[in-house]
Amino acid sequence: MISKKMQNSLNAQINAEIYSAYLYLAMSADLNSKNLPGFASWMKIQAQEEMGHAMKIYAFIEERLGRVVLKAIAEPQKDFASALSIFEQALKHEQKVTGLINKLVDQAIEENDHATHGFLQWFVDEQVEEEATADAIVQKLKMTKDMPSGLFMLDKELAQRAATKE
Ligand code: FEO
Repeated sequence: MISKKMQNSLNAQINAEIYSAYLYLAMSADLNSKNLPGFASWMKIQAQEEMGHAMKIYAFIEERLGRVVLKAIAEPQKDFASALSIFEQALKHEQKVTGLINKLVDQAIEENDHATHGFLQWFVDEQVEEEATADAIVQKLKMTKDMPSGLFMLDKELAQRAATKE
């Protein structure tokens, strides 16, 4: 069984993951309106991954005989300046999520909660990958310097991302 405090923190993380999905869907819609369907598709798949993260935590809380409690999801930003600013913002957001995961790990250690500590390691690894992926796209976008031909090529590349089965 998990502590009430850990249950609350994990429920808050479900909210943060669903907010991430919501934010990435808003980014996807904006990218689509900018005629960048490959970027939009990539971001939509990312949103699906975020829902997968939320559901992983949801299942874990129930498995540990805790209670899932859902709170309101904040409204994400609607309009964005450019593809570059979107991916810079996504990278910043992932860095924030990494901070949240690290806090959860700290709490699990404090509480001597080995099961939650073990469970969270998947998220620790996932954050390393998510930050690296977002950063790589930011770097590529910086290289294009908003040149239409570069954006077009990158859009085609990002369109290749396949949906994950999680
Ligand atoms: Fe679920 Fe992108 O962190």
